[in-house]
Amino acid sequence: MLTLSKGLEIQVQNALEKAFPEAAAQALDSGSKLNPQLVRASKPEFGDFQINGALQLSKQLKTAPREIAEKIIQELNRNERFLTICNSAVIAGPGFINLTLQPECLTSEIKTRVKDPRIGVPKRNFIDTHTKYSRVVVDFSSPNIAKEMHVGHLRSTIIGDSLARILEFRGYEVLRINHIGDWGTQFGMLITHLKTVAPEALTKANALELENLVEFYKQAKQKFDSDEIFQKQSREEVVRLQAGDSLSIKAWSLLCDQSRREFQQIYNLLDIQIHERGESFYNKYLANVITELTDANLLIVDQGAKCIFLDEKKNKGSKKSVIIIQKSDGGFNYATTDLAALRYRFNQVPEGDGASRIIYVTDAGQANHFEGIFEIAKRANWIPKGGRIEHVPFGLVQGPDGKKLKTRSGETIRLRDLLDEAVNRAEVDLKLRLQKEGREESEEFIKNVSTTVGIAAVKYADLSQNRITNYQFSFDRMLALQGNTAPYLLYALVRISGIARRGGSDDLNIENLEFNEPQEWELIRELLKFDEIIVEVEEELLPNRLCTYLFELSQIFNRFYEQVPILKADMQNRISRLTLCRLTAKTLQLGMNLLGIPSLERM
Ligand code: ARG
Repeated sequence: MLTLSKGLEIQVQNALEKAFPEAAAQALDSGSKLNPQLVRASKPEFGDFQINGALQLSKQLKTAPREIAEKIIQELNRNERFLTICNSAVIAGPGFINLTLQPECLTSEIKTRVKDPRIGVPKRNFIDTHTKYSRVVVDFSSPNIAKEMHVGHLRSTIIGDSLARILEFRGYEVLRINHIGDWGTQFGMLITHLKTVAPEALTKANALELENLVEFYKQAKQKFDSDEIFQKQSREEVVRLQAGDSLSIKAWSLLCDQSRREFQQIYNLLDIQIHERGESFYNKYLANVITELTDANLLIVDQGAKCIFLDEKKNKGSKKSVIIIQKSDGGFNYATTDLAALRYRFNQVPEGDGASRIIYVTDAGQANHFEGIFEIAKRANWIPKGGRIEHVPFGLVQGPDGKKLKTRSGETIRLRDLLDEAVNRAEVDLKLRLQKEGREESEEFIKNVSTTVGIAAVKYADLSQNRITNYQFSFDRMLALQGNTAPYLLYALVRISGIARRGGSDDLNIENLEFNEPQEWELIRELLKFDEIIVEVEEELLPNRLCTYLFELSQIFNRFYEQVPILKADMQNRISRLTLCRLTAKTLQLGMNLLGIPSLERM
């Protein structure tokens, strides 16, 4: 109801200023405004909105709150525009004003939304004209070469994709960036090790499976930690790689390709669009980072390493934390690359991305890292005016025992296996249900439904949790047809679309909608919240709000459906109620789409 509340805000502001012209003029002189504190009603009994400002204004206006409220109400009731939006302004308690929207107003919103593909959600620049249309970098997924993509990367992928979808829908230009770990000392050891154990992997594509590569990487790391000659060789190899030696680069790029293919399989399964721009991309900008930080007088040399010391706020400023920007051997760190990346993203095109907002989606364990990076960027003056930079942290994925998710034999779970299992279980569930319902369906139908349901279940289970908390991974829970799950929502949508379809032709004549039942009004008010929810999710970067909303919407719909006749109602009511079915279906579909969950026609 953003448009309605905007309109209402203007009328309420006017009424307050008319009621107290002197105070309003005074406020204006000092560059401010009297604040009516218009907010959403805290309970349905209070109507749709409340004006809470009278209590605070009381001191300033030297008038009792109830008297202030009375005066505002008088002005409101004199205003035609206000009366088309609200039907009553009622004083309550010590001086609150409760406002209830006109039924015609709500009905007309419903009419507009059924016809609107955006269902009332404005584009970003529609409301906030002061923030110009802008570019946002969403840095998510970002697994590491020669290592398996793990559940932490899965969370980042799912959350990042949903945030990117919501930002895109709001009218931002989003750069979806995969900041993969494809650079650094680990390649020196890996290449050196492969030279003896699997030289073909360094010259031929597809010579290894990713599992083998991961295994070789572990061996190389062990050797590196115990064998001095190997260590020296590895370091020399890194130098060759960083200097662009063609054989080293060739070997490196083959290894990257190998991992990339594996990652891509996961992205295909999850339907993720992402642009790879790994750490290696910033290699050529690292030296510049050092120069700029030096020029800004931020670097301190400590035992040969170039460092930045930061105050640790949490420790009341007593402790300092240190970030090493360049090691004593000249090498760079994860942090250095992130500084170069940040710099590049905020820089104007063509030297950079020209972004005005950067969002990093990683586990909460990297919170300190990003806090440090952001602090350095601030000191170095790299964040443009109005630029926003946010770390979007998330908790751990735990097994049913509350410990870190592992296979039965204690190994890390491969993402492919995890997703395959979700799909397989969805298939078992589906076949059982088909049997119970006595339905025969094609192989193709079964494959399609179980893949969609299985993947949706994994995504939704992740998104519906407040991302900051740890979450317990449970196939049984995420695949249940009851509760706040993807199968429940997918099913609700199929059923609602079915009802809407059975109601006949696509173009209902919605000119004369009429609603009388409380269940109808409850559903209408819930439907009209959609735009606010999307704007809120975009602001707070919490997709679970959208999940909760969609779940509540389908529950409110159920109540309406069970208690009010639809297809059997008389013509006028039938059309009105079918319209609500249609809008509910549309809202669920768009909402799920913004979570990265496709809908099904039948299931
Ligand atoms: N590759 C890192 C990891 O696996 C995540 C990178 C996140 N993005 C960034 N700009 N640091 O933990």
